[in-house]
Amino acid sequence: MREEHMAPHLPSFPVLAGPPPRIRDDRIELILGDTEFTVEHPDPARLMALLGALDGTRDVEQLRSSGGFSGDEVTEILSQLDASGFLDDNINPAARPAIDVLLEIEDELNRGFADQVETTTFWRELTERPKLVPVNVYYGMAIENWHFLYREHLFDSAVLSFPGDHHVRAMLNDFYIEEHRHDDIVLKAFMPLGITPEDMRSSRPLPSTTALVNSLAWWARTDPVFFLATISVLEGGPAQGREGSDSFLDACTEAGLDEDFVGPLREHARINASHGHGSVSRELFDVLPAVTVATEARMRGQCSLFNELYRNFYNEIWRYWSVPERPLLRTVKHDAGKVTK
Ligand SMILES: [Fe+2]
Ligand SMILES: [Fe+2]
Repeated sequence: MREEHMAPHLPSFPVLAGPPPRIRDDRIELILGDTEFTVEHPDPARLMALLGALDGTRDVEQLRSSGGFSGDEVTEILSQLDASGFLDDNINPAARPAIDVLLEIEDELNRGFADQVETTTFWRELTERPKLVPVNVYYGMAIENWHFLYREHLFDSAVLSFPGDHHVRAMLNDFYIEEHRHDDIVLKAFMPLGITPEDMRSSRPLPSTTALVNSLAWWARTDPVFFLATISVLEGGPAQGREGSDSFLDACTEAGLDEDFVGPLREHARINASHGHGSVSRELFDVLPAVTVATEARMRGQCSLFNELYRNFYNEIWRYWSVPERPLLRTVKHDAGKVTK
Protein backbone atom coordinates (compact mmCIF):
# COMPACT_ATOMS: atom_id res chain seq x y z
CA MET A 1 0.00 0.00 0.00
CA ARG A 2 2.78 2.39 0.92
CA GLU A 3 4.45 1.97 -2.46
CA GLU A 4 1.18 2.49 -4.28
CA HIS A 5 0.87 5.84 -2.55
CA MET A 6 4.41 6.74 -3.53
CA ALA A 7 4.13 5.74 -7.18
CA PRO A 8 0.53 5.25 -8.22
CA HIS A 9 1.06 5.88 -11.95
CA LEU A 10 4.31 4.19 -12.90
CA PRO A 11 4.38 2.93 -16.50
CA SER A 12 3.54 -0.77 -16.75
CA PHE A 13 6.60 -1.59 -18.91
CA PRO A 14 9.02 1.30 -18.35
CA VAL A 15 11.23 2.46 -21.20
CA LEU A 16 13.96 5.02 -20.63
CA ALA A 17 13.26 7.94 -22.97
CA GLY A 18 16.06 9.56 -24.97
CA PRO A 19 19.46 8.19 -25.97
CA PRO A 20 21.24 5.63 -23.73
CA PRO A 21 22.71 7.21 -20.58
CA ARG A 22 26.46 7.47 -20.19
CA ILE A 23 28.90 7.75 -17.30
CA ARG A 24 31.23 10.71 -17.18
CA ASP A 25 33.43 11.47 -14.17
CA ASP A 26 31.54 8.93 -12.09
CA ARG A 27 28.28 10.70 -12.84
CA ILE A 28 25.45 9.46 -15.00
CA GLU A 29 24.27 11.78 -17.74
CA LEU A 30 20.71 11.49 -19.00
CA ILE A 31 19.60 13.49 -22.02
CA LEU A 32 16.05 14.27 -23.04
CA GLY A 33 15.62 16.74 -25.89
CA ASP A 34 17.49 19.88 -24.93
CA THR A 35 17.56 18.90 -21.27
CA GLU A 36 20.51 17.20 -19.67
CA PHE A 37 20.36 15.63 -16.21
CA THR A 38 23.33 14.59 -14.18
CA VAL A 39 22.82 11.96 -11.50
CA GLU A 40 25.27 11.31 -8.72
CA HIS A 41 25.15 7.88 -7.18
CA PRO A 42 27.54 5.99 -4.87
CA ASP A 43 27.50 3.04 -7.26
CA PRO A 44 26.98 4.42 -10.78
CA ALA A 45 27.62 1.06 -12.47
CA ARG A 46 24.82 -0.55 -10.47
CA LEU A 47 22.44 2.27 -11.39
CA MET A 48 23.52 2.03 -15.03
CA ALA A 49 22.58 -1.66 -14.97
CA LEU A 50 19.08 -0.76 -13.77
CA LEU A 51 18.74 2.02 -16.39
CA GLY A 52 19.87 -0.44 -19.05
CA ALA A 53 17.06 -2.76 -18.00
CA LEU A 54 14.47 -0.07 -18.76
CA ASP A 55 13.92 -1.25 -22.32
CA GLY A 56 10.20 -1.96 -22.11
CA THR A 57 10.55 -5.74 -21.85
CA ARG A 58 10.17 -5.90 -18.05
CA ASP A 59 7.29 -4.76 -15.91
CA VAL A 60 7.75 -2.91 -12.63
CA GLU A 61 7.55 -6.09 -10.54
CA GLN A 62 10.28 -7.77 -12.58
CA LEU A 63 12.48 -4.70 -12.19
CA ARG A 64 11.83 -4.60 -8.44
CA SER A 65 12.96 -8.20 -8.03
CA SER A 66 15.86 -8.07 -10.49
CA GLY A 67 18.49 -7.65 -7.73
CA GLY A 68 21.01 -4.85 -7.50
CA PHE A 69 18.57 -2.65 -5.59
CA SER A 70 15.86 -3.35 -3.10
CA GLY A 71 12.30 -3.25 -4.39
CA ASP A 72 11.64 0.06 -2.61
CA GLU A 73 14.79 1.60 -4.07
CA VAL A 74 13.73 0.56 -7.59
CA THR A 75 10.30 2.12 -7.06
CA GLU A 76 11.91 5.32 -5.80
CA ILE A 77 14.30 5.55 -8.78
CA LEU A 78 11.50 4.85 -11.27
CA SER A 79 9.27 7.45 -9.59
CA GLN A 80 11.97 10.11 -9.87
CA LEU A 81 12.65 9.26 -13.51
CA ASP A 82 8.93 9.28 -14.28
CA ALA A 83 8.40 12.62 -12.52
CA SER A 84 11.12 14.14 -14.72
CA GLY A 85 9.56 12.75 -17.89
CA PHE A 86 12.23 10.12 -18.52
CA LEU A 87 9.90 7.13 -18.65
CA ASP A 88 7.73 5.98 -21.53
CA ASP A 89 5.47 2.95 -21.43
CA ASN A 90 5.87 0.07 -23.81
CA ILE A 91 2.33 -1.08 -23.29
CA ASN A 92 0.35 -1.00 -26.53
CA PRO A 93 -3.31 -0.20 -26.03
CA ALA A 94 -5.32 -2.50 -28.27
CA ALA A 95 -6.60 0.00 -30.85
CA ARG A 96 -7.00 0.54 -34.60
CA PRO A 97 -6.99 3.62 -36.82
CA ALA A 98 -10.36 5.35 -36.32
CA ILE A 99 -11.16 5.57 -40.05
CA ASP A 100 -10.66 1.79 -40.46
CA VAL A 101 -13.12 1.18 -37.65
CA LEU A 102 -15.63 3.66 -39.10
CA LEU A 103 -15.58 2.06 -42.55
CA GLU A 104 -16.49 -1.29 -40.99
CA ILE A 105 -19.19 0.27 -38.81
CA GLU A 106 -20.51 1.99 -41.95
CA ASP A 107 -20.69 -1.41 -43.66
CA GLU A 108 -22.62 -2.76 -40.72
CA LEU A 109 -25.04 0.18 -40.70
CA ASN A 110 -25.45 -0.05 -44.48
CA ARG A 111 -26.22 -3.77 -44.25
CA GLY A 112 -28.79 -3.02 -41.56
CA PHE A 113 -30.23 -0.23 -43.72
CA ALA A 114 -30.61 -2.60 -46.69
CA ASP A 115 -32.11 -5.40 -44.56
CA GLN A 116 -34.30 -3.41 -42.23
CA VAL A 117 -34.99 0.06 -43.60
CA GLU A 118 -35.17 -0.32 -47.39
CA THR A 119 -37.49 -3.30 -46.92
CA THR A 120 -40.10 -1.28 -45.00
CA THR A 121 -43.46 -0.77 -46.68
CA PHE A 122 -42.71 2.96 -46.64
CA TRP A 123 -39.59 2.68 -48.79
CA ARG A 124 -40.85 -0.17 -50.99
CA GLU A 125 -44.03 1.71 -51.89
CA LEU A 126 -42.21 5.00 -52.34
CA THR A 127 -39.59 3.60 -54.69
CA GLU A 128 -41.78 1.08 -56.57
CA ARG A 129 -45.19 2.80 -56.74
CA PRO A 130 -44.70 6.48 -55.85
CA LYS A 131 -47.86 7.57 -57.70
CA LEU A 132 -50.03 5.20 -55.61
CA VAL A 133 -48.64 6.29 -52.24
CA PRO A 134 -51.29 8.27 -50.27
CA VAL A 135 -50.35 11.93 -50.38
CA ASN A 136 -50.51 12.18 -46.58
CA VAL A 137 -47.55 9.78 -46.39
CA TYR A 138 -45.46 12.37 -48.25
CA TYR A 139 -46.70 15.10 -45.97
CA GLY A 140 -46.20 12.89 -42.92
CA MET A 141 -42.61 12.16 -43.87
CA ALA A 142 -41.93 15.89 -44.17
CA ILE A 143 -43.67 16.52 -40.83
CA GLU A 144 -41.64 13.89 -38.98
CA ASN A 145 -38.48 15.10 -40.71
CA TRP A 146 -39.28 18.58 -39.43
CA HIS A 147 -39.85 17.24 -35.89
CA PHE A 148 -36.46 15.56 -36.12
CA LEU A 149 -34.71 18.73 -37.35
CA TYR A 150 -36.56 20.86 -34.78
CA ARG A 151 -34.98 18.69 -32.07
CA GLU A 152 -31.59 18.20 -33.70
CA HIS A 153 -29.89 20.47 -31.15
CA LEU A 154 -30.79 17.92 -28.45
CA PHE A 155 -28.14 15.56 -29.80
CA ASP A 156 -25.79 17.78 -31.82
CA SER A 157 -25.23 20.13 -28.87
CA ALA A 158 -24.10 17.25 -26.65
CA VAL A 159 -20.93 16.72 -28.71
CA LEU A 160 -19.94 20.39 -28.96
CA SER A 161 -17.65 19.83 -25.97
CA PHE A 162 -16.24 16.57 -27.39
CA PRO A 163 -13.18 16.00 -25.19
CA GLY A 164 -11.36 13.40 -27.31
CA ASP A 165 -9.68 15.70 -29.83
CA HIS A 166 -9.71 19.47 -30.35
CA HIS A 167 -9.74 19.23 -34.19
CA VAL A 168 -12.81 17.01 -34.03
CA ARG A 169 -14.39 19.42 -31.55
CA ALA A 170 -13.83 22.33 -33.96
CA MET A 171 -15.33 20.33 -36.84
CA LEU A 172 -18.38 19.46 -34.74
CA ASN A 173 -18.85 23.13 -33.89
CA ASP A 174 -18.75 23.96 -37.61
CA PHE A 175 -21.28 21.21 -38.30
CA TYR A 176 -23.56 22.56 -35.58
CA ILE A 177 -23.48 26.03 -37.13
CA GLU A 178 -24.23 24.58 -40.57
CA GLU A 179 -27.22 22.66 -39.21
CA HIS A 180 -28.55 25.52 -37.11
CA ARG A 181 -32.24 26.31 -37.84
CA HIS A 182 -32.57 23.95 -40.79
CA ASP A 183 -36.01 23.20 -39.38
CA ASP A 184 -37.03 26.70 -40.50
CA ILE A 185 -36.23 25.82 -44.13
CA VAL A 186 -38.48 22.75 -44.04
CA LEU A 187 -41.16 24.70 -42.16
CA LYS A 188 -41.93 26.61 -45.38
CA ALA A 189 -43.16 23.38 -46.99
CA PHE A 190 -46.24 23.33 -44.78
CA MET A 191 -47.60 26.78 -45.62
CA PRO A 192 -49.22 25.53 -48.89
CA LEU A 193 -50.96 22.86 -46.77
CA GLY A 194 -52.48 25.57 -44.60
CA ILE A 195 -50.25 24.66 -41.66
CA THR A 196 -48.65 27.58 -39.86
CA PRO A 197 -45.31 27.48 -38.00
CA GLU A 198 -47.30 27.79 -34.78
CA ASP A 199 -49.39 24.73 -35.72
CA MET A 200 -46.19 22.76 -36.29
CA ARG A 201 -44.60 23.79 -33.03
CA SER A 202 -47.69 22.81 -31.06
CA SER A 203 -47.95 19.39 -32.73
CA ARG A 204 -46.56 16.10 -31.50
CA PRO A 205 -44.03 13.87 -33.26
CA LEU A 206 -44.75 10.17 -33.50
CA PRO A 207 -43.36 8.16 -30.56
CA SER A 208 -41.00 6.43 -33.00
CA THR A 209 -39.56 9.79 -34.08
CA THR A 210 -39.20 10.75 -30.44
CA ALA A 211 -37.45 7.45 -29.74
CA LEU A 212 -34.92 8.10 -32.52
CA VAL A 213 -34.26 11.66 -31.31
CA ASN A 214 -33.92 10.62 -27.67
CA SER A 215 -31.65 7.68 -28.49
CA LEU A 216 -29.34 9.93 -30.48
CA ALA A 217 -29.29 12.41 -27.59
CA TRP A 218 -28.47 9.54 -25.24
CA TRP A 219 -25.66 8.24 -27.47
CA ALA A 220 -24.27 11.74 -27.97
CA ARG A 221 -23.93 12.00 -24.19
CA THR A 222 -22.88 8.47 -23.27
CA ASP A 223 -21.13 7.12 -26.37
CA PRO A 224 -20.14 10.14 -28.49
CA VAL A 225 -17.84 8.16 -30.79
CA PHE A 226 -20.74 5.93 -31.84
CA PHE A 227 -22.93 8.99 -32.26
CA LEU A 228 -20.35 10.51 -34.64
CA ALA A 229 -20.54 7.34 -36.74
CA THR A 230 -24.31 7.75 -37.21
CA ILE A 231 -24.22 11.36 -38.47
CA SER A 232 -23.52 10.45 -42.09
CA VAL A 233 -26.23 7.80 -42.17
CA LEU A 234 -28.77 10.36 -40.97
CA GLU A 235 -27.42 12.89 -43.47
CA GLY A 236 -27.86 10.59 -46.46
CA GLY A 237 -24.51 8.79 -46.58
CA PRO A 238 -21.25 9.38 -48.48
CA ALA A 239 -22.80 8.31 -51.81
CA GLN A 240 -25.09 11.35 -51.70
CA GLY A 241 -24.28 13.70 -54.56
CA ARG A 242 -23.46 17.38 -54.21
CA GLU A 243 -26.61 18.38 -56.12
CA GLY A 244 -28.84 17.30 -53.21
CA SER A 245 -31.26 14.76 -54.55
CA ASP A 246 -32.51 11.77 -52.59
CA SER A 247 -34.95 8.89 -52.96
CA PHE A 248 -37.76 10.72 -51.18
CA LEU A 249 -37.47 13.81 -53.39
CA ASP A 250 -37.35 11.58 -56.48
CA ALA A 251 -40.59 9.93 -55.34
CA CYS A 252 -42.17 13.36 -54.75
CA THR A 253 -41.28 14.33 -58.31
CA GLU A 254 -42.61 11.01 -59.69
CA ALA A 255 -45.86 11.46 -57.79
CA GLY A 256 -46.23 14.99 -59.18
CA LEU A 257 -46.46 16.74 -55.82
CA ASP A 258 -46.86 20.51 -55.76
CA GLU A 259 -43.52 22.29 -56.04
CA ASP A 260 -44.62 24.72 -53.31
CA PHE A 261 -44.47 21.76 -50.93
CA VAL A 262 -41.43 19.99 -52.39
CA GLY A 263 -39.33 23.13 -53.01
CA PRO A 264 -38.34 23.80 -49.37
CA LEU A 265 -37.46 20.11 -48.88
CA ARG A 266 -35.32 20.28 -52.00
CA GLU A 267 -33.67 23.45 -50.70
CA HIS A 268 -32.73 21.72 -47.45
CA ALA A 269 -31.33 18.71 -49.31
CA ARG A 270 -29.30 21.03 -51.55
CA ILE A 271 -27.77 22.88 -48.58
CA ASN A 272 -27.06 19.57 -46.89
CA ALA A 273 -25.31 18.27 -49.97
CA SER A 274 -23.34 21.46 -50.61
CA HIS A 275 -21.80 21.09 -47.15
CA GLY A 276 -21.00 17.44 -47.87
CA HIS A 277 -22.87 16.30 -44.75
CA GLY A 278 -23.13 12.74 -46.08
CA SER A 279 -19.37 12.47 -45.49
CA VAL A 280 -19.15 14.17 -42.09
CA SER A 281 -18.54 10.92 -40.20
CA ARG A 282 -15.65 9.98 -42.48
CA GLU A 283 -14.10 13.43 -42.11
CA LEU A 284 -14.38 13.23 -38.32
CA PHE A 285 -12.93 9.73 -38.08
CA ASP A 286 -10.10 10.72 -40.43
CA VAL A 287 -9.00 13.21 -37.77
CA LEU A 288 -9.97 11.19 -34.70
CA PRO A 289 -7.09 9.32 -33.03
CA ALA A 290 -7.26 5.54 -32.81
CA VAL A 291 -10.38 3.77 -31.56
CA THR A 292 -9.73 1.19 -28.86
CA VAL A 293 -10.88 -2.39 -29.27
CA ALA A 294 -13.31 -1.93 -26.37
CA THR A 295 -14.92 1.13 -28.02
CA GLU A 296 -15.11 -0.67 -31.35
CA ALA A 297 -16.90 -3.64 -29.76
CA ARG A 298 -19.33 -1.30 -28.03
CA MET A 299 -20.02 0.53 -31.32
CA ARG A 300 -20.76 -2.73 -33.13
CA GLY A 301 -23.16 -3.65 -30.34
CA GLN A 302 -25.16 -0.43 -30.92
CA CYS A 303 -25.60 -0.79 -34.69
CA SER A 304 -28.62 -3.08 -34.64
CA LEU A 305 -30.47 -0.87 -32.14
CA PHE A 306 -29.82 2.15 -34.34
CA ASN A 307 -31.17 0.30 -37.38
CA GLU A 308 -34.25 -0.83 -35.46
CA LEU A 309 -34.97 2.73 -34.39
CA TYR A 310 -34.49 3.95 -37.95
CA ARG A 311 -36.75 1.20 -39.31
CA ASN A 312 -39.46 2.08 -36.77
CA PHE A 313 -39.20 5.74 -37.77
CA TYR A 314 -40.28 4.87 -41.36
CA ASN A 315 -42.66 2.05 -40.41
CA GLU A 316 -44.64 4.34 -38.18
CA ILE A 317 -44.80 7.13 -40.76
CA TRP A 318 -46.42 4.64 -43.12
CA ARG A 319 -48.70 3.18 -40.44
CA TYR A 320 -50.03 6.54 -39.31
CA TRP A 321 -50.26 8.53 -42.55
CA SER A 322 -51.35 5.82 -44.96
CA VAL A 323 -54.80 6.14 -43.36
CA PRO A 324 -56.20 9.22 -45.14
CA GLU A 325 -58.85 9.89 -42.47
CA ARG A 326 -56.24 10.75 -39.89
CA PRO A 327 -55.64 14.46 -39.30
CA LEU A 328 -52.36 15.70 -40.70
CA LEU A 329 -51.12 17.11 -37.44
CA ARG A 330 -51.13 15.19 -34.20
CA THR A 331 -52.24 17.77 -31.73
CA VAL A 332 -53.66 17.17 -28.28
CA LYS A 333 -56.80 19.02 -29.33
CA HIS A 334 -57.56 17.02 -32.48
CA ASP A 335 -56.52 13.44 -32.17
CA ALA A 336 -56.13 12.45 -28.55
CA GLY A 337 -57.17 8.83 -28.31
CA LYS A 338 -57.11 8.17 -32.05
CA VAL A 339 -53.54 7.01 -32.32
CA THR A 340 -54.15 3.58 -30.87
CA LYS A 341 -57.10 2.84 -33.17
FE1 LIG B 1 -29.87 19.86 -42.05
FE1 LIG C 1 -27.15 18.35 -42.71
